[in-house]
Amino acid sequence: MPYTNEALNLKNHLVMAPMTRSRAINNLPNDLMAEYYSQRRGAGLIITEGTAPAPEALGYARIPGIFSGEQIEGWKIVTSAVHKNQTKIFLQLMHTGRVGHQDNLPTGIQLVGPSDIAAAGQIFTDTAGMQDHSAPVALTGQGVKDVIAGYVTAAKNAIEAGFDGVELHAANGYLIEQFLNPNVNNRTDNYGGSIENRARFAVEIAQQVAAAIGKNKVGVRISPNSTLGDLQAYDADAVQETYIHLAREFNRFGLAYIHISLNQQTPKDTLLAIRTEFEGTLIYCNTFTAEKAEAELNGGDADLIAFGRPFLANPDLDERIANNTELNAPDFSTLYTPGAKGYTDYPVLFN
Ligand SMILES: Cc1cc2nc3c(=O)[nH]c(=O)nc-3n(C[C@H](O)[C@H](O)[C@H](O)COP(=O)(O)O)c2cc1C
Repeated sequence: MPYTNEALNLKNHLVMAPMTRSRAINNLPNDLMAEYYSQRRGAGLIITEGTAPAPEALGYARIPGIFSGEQIEGWKIVTSAVHKNQTKIFLQLMHTGRVGHQDNLPTGIQLVGPSDIAAAGQIFTDTAGMQDHSAPVALTGQGVKDVIAGYVTAAKNAIEAGFDGVELHAANGYLIEQFLNPNVNNRTDNYGGSIENRARFAVEIAQQVAAAIGKNKVGVRISPNSTLGDLQAYDADAVQETYIHLAREFNRFGLAYIHISLNQQTPKDTLLAIRTEFEGTLIYCNTFTAEKAEAELNGGDADLIAFGRPFLANPDLDERIANNTELNAPDFSTLYTPGAKGYTDYPVLFN
């Protein structure tokens, strides 16, 4: 069944969740990636893997960027392949911030964060396998402005590359969520301290990107109460207030959608408050089955459901849902390995 509202017109309610797959050799989108996304064009909306808006945002190995002419040209192959089937495609803008390693960054570029507090834990590098996260350099006031300007340029590049819009990744412990979290953001300027200040980075990016490319072309992904990327939990009331504030601001800018990456810790109250404050489309994601998705859509809390791993392993997920057929299981050993194996070779029901 199609989904239609002021900002989004989709051929169905099925969304492919953003998934990093590390196939972008030299951070360039390529033919193999075009084939992968094109195989999954049964989705009404595809949200791409996290893509770096600037060189210092390339925290992971082999993730794509959208800051160079060559990257724009590479993405054009992907968008034109996907559009052949009336599928919409948004580019996820992911600035990894302190989650990353110097070895994954171009020479001379430094890992940055809201502060110099490093993330505990390790990250994969092509140079030496798993290594501790590098210590980030705290962004200066001018540095913050430069990163925001980088998002604006990246969003314009995405439109030039043929995307229908961009999704701002404000979830899962990356730079925007690092700014939201008071255990990582110890800034004393107007991007740190109060809830409003910690949210300012997210709010200014959303506002400026919407002004640059059009509000209907901007969505944002959030993960209230997530502790991914070594983000320590903080005061529950402050979390609730943070997301109410964000939903209100995103509503004020008229963004196309909020995409919520749910987890066990997300209180129902937070979800309901976002629903009340935000008049646009709400997408829910995480551990949905077709049955759970149907129930959620009928219940009316979410407007669209995104599937991650089921789409990764089932290029024809739409047909499998329609035929109530068993799903392929993902091969976890090839999630982030280069090449076609475990990427474009999952079997489909009908050829
Ligand atoms: C291999 C892999 C890569 C992922 N990369 C991203 C990413 O780049 N950006 C993002 O927002 N979420 C990312 N996620 C999270 C998914 O979007 C989704 O929230 C998660 O898989 C749970 O949904 P599922 O149960 O339908 O798989 C990734 C998940 C997987 C399995």
